[in-house]
Amino acid sequence: MKTQDSASAPTSEPLLDLAALRADTPGCTSVIHFNNAGCGLMARPVLRAMIEHLQLEASVGGYEASAARATEVADFHAATAELINARPGTVAFAGSATHAYAKALSAIDFRPGDVVLTTRNDFISNQIAFLSLRRRHGVEVVHAPDLPDGAGVDVAAMAALMRARRPRLVAATHVPTNSGLVQPVAEIGRHCRELDLLYLVDACQSVGQLPVDVEEIGCDLLTATCRKFLRGPRGSGFLYVSERVLRSGAEPLFIDMYGARWTAPGEYRPVETAARFEEWEFPYATVLGCAAAVRYALRVGIAPVARRTPALAARLRAGLAGLPGVRVLDRGPSPAALVTFAVAGWQPQPFKRALDDLGVNSALSFREFAQFDFGDKDVEWCLRLSPHYYNTEDEVDTVAAAVAELAGAVR
Ligand SMILES: Cc1ncc(COP(=O)(O)O)c(C=O)c1O
Repeated sequence: MKTQDSASAPTSEPLLDLAALRADTPGCTSVIHFNNAGCGLMARPVLRAMIEHLQLEASVGGYEASAARATEVADFHAATAELINARPGTVAFAGSATHAYAKALSAIDFRPGDVVLTTRNDFISNQIAFLSLRRRHGVEVVHAPDLPDGAGVDVAAMAALMRARRPRLVAATHVPTNSGLVQPVAEIGRHCRELDLLYLVDACQSVGQLPVDVEEIGCDLLTATCRKFLRGPRGSGFLYVSERVLRSGAEPLFIDMYGARWTAPGEYRPVETAARFEEWEFPYATVLGCAAAVRYALRVGIAPVARRTPALAARLRAGLAGLPGVRVLDRGPSPAALVTFAVAGWQPQPFKRALDDLGVNSALSFREFAQFDFGDKDVEWCLRLSPHYYNTEDEVDTVAAAVAELAGAVR
């Protein structure tokens, strides 16, 4: 996967064989897929792993098929741990990032008056979950302020809040869904470790796009999906639980016969590993697709992906900046591959449909997705374009030209 055929990067570093990667991606022939922040295009090995397993289930039986593929299933956990530099036994499969997040929150014994300290750019569903904890348990939700230029959370101010409020939980989203912002999760983590505070990171948009190292971040819990920049199937995600948290005995509120042993009529004992956060029933074809996707990402190499993907986004932003009627909304010193912009004179759905008609996949974001961020930027909606490493510079230029034409068109 790491051959030297690309023109621009230094020769000492592995480069991507773009032609091979695109040949491995059936969707590349039918669309310009700039909705990787929604769901990446699956590569052939992912598709194959899933289809073969469904065929096996159909021919030998579902339980028998999973028994026959036990090694490959276990590799989901091993590969994911390798991807995020986690210890064995600390990764749990989940049906989505939100499922993983809810399981993590359910393991915390919140009491009235406990503080959840988070940021103004945390993901919409996380914010709703915190509000739900406020409603049910009387938890106080505190948002750390942003830097004056809007380029992410003010870590010093967040650390001051940690010291003053001693939150029960610190929560940060690495890359929010609503812009290319990259939050300084490792800096936040250093303060959490210093103050011994429980730290939960949402890495849903960063896993598969940027290096995500749980040791470097210093988090206790981390959640992600497999379907976005990891290019796995829909209906999948994972939860990382540090050994420290596992040793503390933390367990999800509803734990099943897979996560715990029923040791006596009135007793149960959670298992030692993060399997405590899983359930007995797995979508095995999906888990195997995820294992294949994570192995694929490891073979391609996160380092070259993390160079190329944001660079394609930067090229796109440069192509959009200054277009009449277009306002690029991303902030921060090194934005990720989520390019967001507002377009004057258009309604959201017609604008997206116009791009659909040109064979360009995109996504819309609305103020509801990001109450603080869109309020600050004074926008009701924006279009999000999210390339990945398998997209080409030509596609970026085609998309920028399409936006220029639409934004300038009489409507
Ligand atoms: C930053 C972030 N966190 C969490 C999620 C939720 O992921 P899922 O749909 O897998 O629950 C998303 C989805 O877009 C996201 O962008």
